[in-house]
Amino acid sequence: YEYICDMIGIFDSGSGGLSVLKEILRLLPEDNFVFYADNAHCPYGEKTPEYIKDRGRAITRTLLESGAEIIVVACNTATGAAISTLRSEFPFIRFIGMEPAVKPAALGTRSGVIGVLATEGTLKASKYLTTKGNYADECRIEEHVGRGFVELVERGVLTGPEAEATVRASLEPLLDAGADTIVLGCTHYPFLLQVMEKIAGPGVRFIDPAPAVARQTVHVMAETGLLTQEEARAALARVSAPVPENPHVRLLSSGDPSSEERIFKLITTNQ
Ligand code: DGL
Repeated sequence: YEYICDMIGIFDSGSGGLSVLKEILRLLPEDNFVFYADNAHCPYGEKTPEYIKDRGRAITRTLLESGAEIIVVACNTATGAAISTLRSEFPFIRFIGMEPAVKPAALGTRSGVIGVLATEGTLKASKYLTTKGNYADECRIEEHVGRGFVELVERGVLTGPEAEATVRASLEPLLDAGADTIVLGCTHYPFLLQVMEKIAGPGVRFIDPAPAVARQTVHVMAETGLLTQEEARAALARVSAPVPENPHVRLLSSGDPSSEERIFKLITTNQ
């Protein structure tokens, strides 16, 4: 058979969603992608759900015009605020959203305390509150907004004293509460993992939902006929494959494209 490359649309408030693109690229190295960074309106964390829904609608239209056949909402805040609206207003296209990785964290904790780092919007969203309620009997959940994390990543400050001081201020309360497993509930945060690990030390595990979202993307593509069962199986078997060096990705942004270009370079060169 001939492999027909699909067009996958992805968006985030900024460059954070590139942490999700990175995991999808491992599974689907030949496909075409259009990534929209809404950095003129970033951060989404403190915006109202109505504002984020409007941005979601506008970005969805742009991605559809660019040929997207499926859309990954690579932003926890936008998933919480807008995905159900987008699904009902654009019923002909499938949307894949972010899930805070509370379940794997609850299964893996030894101390019985898990930490969740996310934006204010995500921590208030009913989607998160429901997930949290489901695990409340099994473990204690401590939360903190990753204050200033998104801005650091957008500015490309991923290491060094400024990044360490900012990360420490939000991470330490979770560590002090006894969390041994910390959920990264915002797609920008994996870019600060090195700093977080340095502060937390070896006893703490960080969970990034991006690999699970990448697998879910493949499942949905198989369901909608964008991939054959055989192609989907092959894709899922590439879990730990390297990120392709020159993937077919078109980068769009609503503002200055330099952050998106810089982080894109990072994900395609630093495996
Ligand atoms: N990357 C986003 C998320 O996953 C949004 C961060 C923001 O814009 O505040 O929540």
